[in-house]
Amino acid sequence: MFSYFKDRKTIKNFELLMKDIDLYPTKKIKYESVRSLRKIYHEVQILVIKDMVVEGHFLESLKDIRVGIATSSNSTKLELSDNFKNFVDNVMKKDNNKYVFHDVTKDEEARKIIPELIPLPVFIPAKSVEQLRICRLYAGGKHSGTNIHQHSAALNYLVSGKKLWITFPFNEKNKIFIERNNMRYGQVKVPAINWLINNHGKLIKENAIKDLKFFLQKRGEVAYVPPGHFHAVVNLEDVTGITYSWHMEKRK
Ligand SMILES: [Fe+2]
Repeated sequence: MFSYFKDRKTIKNFELLMKDIDLYPTKKIKYESVRSLRKIYHEVQILVIKDMVVEGHFLESLKDIRVGIATSSNSTKLELSDNFKNFVDNVMKKDNNKYVFHDVTKDEEARKIIPELIPLPVFIPAKSVEQLRICRLYAGGKHSGTNIHQHSAALNYLVSGKKLWITFPFNEKNKIFIERNNMRYGQVKVPAINWLINNHGKLIKENAIKDLKFFLQKRGEVAYVPPGHFHAVVNLEDVTGITYSWHMEKRK
């Protein structure tokens, strides 16, 4: 099983690969209103909010939340549980094969605290955590990640750490690429970092994928992923944060 402290060869290969990756210069948009959503709707963007919660306050506020622990790159299959702060302070620093991807919509306590730390933006149709399609509290060690997948529109608030994103829109060409290469979610059996090392050449091959983008997200930044976009993530540092994902129609 992959672990940052064990698999030196993967780390070396990844470091070499990072030198070759062409990073997309994301525009930084300060967002507050419906107008901003119109601007960002069709593409991946990095958004900046002025009053992003700081890591210390975030951890302190959520320290007693009991979270499920999953395997990195297979974040929805739960294996253990722990308290959030203990996971962040102790577990993930030693084992990046473990990952927290806690479903906040089903946790009454977290559901109260999280929107106080990171308010839902005014432009999305959901007006409360209950109206979101999903809200996740996440944490993972350096070089953990998420394999390629897609879902409804989402915002990913990175409270601490740094992420490398690999994204491309949903269209016929890109869908065929995913299918031909057996990259549908659940089909990729290796950690995201290994998937990227093994497939980078294939991904960047001319005409293979339309509008492939690699970009960095830093602490305090929010990544916007449009509906249906394929995306995978490799965490470049230990990370903590929140995701909000919603359906475009207003829920009745
Ligand atoms: Fe996602």
